[in-house]
Amino acid sequence: MSKAIVIYASTTGETKSIAVSIAQGIRETGHEAKTSNIDNIRDIKEIEDHDAVVLGSSVYKEDLLPEMKTLLHNLKQADLQDKVGGAFASLEWSEEAPDEILVVMQSLHKMNTLETCLKLRPPLLGNQQQEAINYGKEIGKKMG
Ligand SMILES: Cc1cc2nc3c(=O)[nH]c(=O)nc-3n(C[C@H](O)[C@H](O)[C@H](O)COP(=O)(O)O)c2cc1C
Repeated sequence: MSKAIVIYASTTGETKSIAVSIAQGIRETGHEAKTSNIDNIRDIKEIEDHDAVVLGSSVYKEDLLPEMKTLLHNLKQADLQDKVGGAFASLEWSEEAPDEILVVMQSLHKMNTLETCLKLRPPLLGNQQQEAINYGKEIGKKMG
C-alpha cells in the first residue's frame, strides 16, 4: 500500500478542512493518507518518506502563507522526483497565487503532479467538499 501526506497551512481552518477531505478521497482509493499541519513538519525527510505529497495553503495578501513559502524553499533539499504531487488552496479572489506550488513541484522536482491546483472558496460545504474528495481520488489513482 502506498502512502500520502497532505500538508496544510491554515489560519482559521478552511484549508485544513480541504486537506481532511482530500485525505479521505485518497483513502477511498485504498491508500494510506495522513494530514499534517505545516507547523508540525520538523524534518524534510519526513516528507520524502511518502509516495505522494499534497500541499495546500490559504491565500493572504495575494500570496501563499509564509509557512508554505518557507516549506517550498526548504523542499529544495528533498528528492521528490517522480512522486505523485497535488496542490490546493482556500481563497477568495487570488486565483493565481497557489499555482506556485505546482510550478515548484513540476519544474524543480519533476514530480508527477495533477494538472491543476484545487482552489476552493470558504466555507467548505456540499459540492466543494465533494470536489476535494474527488481531488484526493485523482491523487490516489495516480498512486496506482
Ligand atoms: C486579512 C485577510 C486577507 C486576505 N487576503 C486574501 C487575498 O489576498 N486573496 C484571496 O484570494 N483571499 C484572501 N483572503 C481570504 C482567505 O484566503 C480565506 O478566508 C481563506 O478561506 C482562509 O483560509 P484558512 O482558514 O485556511 O486560512 C483574506 C482573508 C483575510 C482575513
